[in-house]
Amino acid sequence: MDTPNLSIMQTINSAYEILEQSIMYHNGNAIGTCAALHSPSLAAENYSDCFVRDFVPSALVFLADGRPEIVSNFLQTVLALRTRKRLAAGHEIQPGVMPASFRVVHDERGEEIVQADFGERAIGRVAPVDSMMWWLILLYIYEKNTGDAALAKRPEFQNTMEQILHLCLRDSFEVSPALLVPDACTMIDRRMGIYGHPIEIQALFYGVLRIIHSLLEVTDERQQSLINAALIREKALLNYVRIYYWLDPERLNEIHRYTTEEFGIDSINILNIYPESIPDWVPEWLPDEGGYLVGNVGAGRMDFRYFALGNFLSIMFGLTSDMQASRIMKLYETRWDDLVGAMPVKVIYPALQGVEWQVITGSDPKNAPWSYHNGGNWPALLWQFVAAAQRAGRGDLAERAFNIAINRLRHNDWPEYYDGRYGRLIGRRANFKQVWSATSLILSHKLLDNPTLLNLLP
Ligand code: GLC
Repeated sequence: MDTPNLSIMQTINSAYEILEQSIMYHNGNAIGTCAALHSPSLAAENYSDCFVRDFVPSALVFLADGRPEIVSNFLQTVLALRTRKRLAAGHEIQPGVMPASFRVVHDERGEEIVQADFGERAIGRVAPVDSMMWWLILLYIYEKNTGDAALAKRPEFQNTMEQILHLCLRDSFEVSPALLVPDACTMIDRRMGIYGHPIEIQALFYGVLRIIHSLLEVTDERQQSLINAALIREKALLNYVRIYYWLDPERLNEIHRYTTEEFGIDSINILNIYPESIPDWVPEWLPDEGGYLVGNVGAGRMDFRYFALGNFLSIMFGLTSDMQASRIMKLYETRWDDLVGAMPVKVIYPALQGVEWQVITGSDPKNAPWSYHNGGNWPALLWQFVAAAQRAGRGDLAERAFNIAINRLRHNDWPEYYDGRYGRLIGRRANFKQVWSATSLILSHKLLDNPTLLNLLP
């Protein structure tokens, strides 16, 4: 990047002020960052919690700035919370599952305690699946950055990793290597029709499978067989996603002419996708040179919507081939207004409207068409876009997106999201001083300045 000019540095400094103010302490130790700074505009009470997924860009900034203690404290805090009793009326939450968020409160004796939310208090009672995966990926990044291998070697860390792996790999009703999860269990934590096999979870799962053997020590046969299963699953998942989630004009033509109702092991249209299910917007919108991983795949189902985060993570972790990564970036180049517009980047394209919106979101007014999760633009996704673009050799697109964000975010007081077809409006119910909007910008600035930071990722 060119030499930083004054206004870029002023904006970055303002983002750092938000980060500093967001730090959460427990008994004097920094253990996390809250989701948004307190203000009368806070959309929900739990934005003062530290969310596991929101902390990831904070953590990467802290690590890049040589402040690893807070990351280590965070990893230990989340780990400790895992073992707390979780009451989900009548059943136990699986060991290995990690909370969506936590906060520091005072107990009756006035002592500070950390209280977790596994989904039993969250709006809509949604439990995260991504938390445990982000936790593991962050542990890997922490170790790579600091060289501190002792943390992951602690028995409670080893035990937890084993439980996470066990939970993800255990037998279920599935026939595909993709992981089956409920709606609202990811960054999109409201009903948005992402139940089944959303690409974001498959990408995080793949990230975990790629690194687990470098973190988990094998001391007995059980661990050995877990690691073996992970290696097999890693390959199977890679092939499956690269084939069945991939959509480019050639593949679209195949699907358009698919034979259906094929029985037997030689069938080509194995999921029995009906060509009639291709939405009208797809053939018009998909550029000749472009392509992407679709949002979800299952029996008789292909969710053709474009989900940004799942595609970025797939590029970052090597789940896409090089050709696929460059075609996804080509899609950005050609459909820039739709996918970036006035604020990088749109979370989903296109928005659900009309009856589809009613049926799929349950008529959720917060997820009205082109707002919030339903086609809003999220600055928090900027760093993943930058990382994915750099990985795909498109640093030019990364800079272009960064320049759009830097011109608006501070001026708009760091909104959580933007509304509208092109992201020109500040989100109707968006918080201001949203921490991951600020950290995402700092981190993007760092990545552009020093692309070798990418080497920390799985
Ligand atoms: C919203 C987002 C979620 C985020 C949380 C805190 O619920 O959907 O991804 O973690 O806010 O910022």
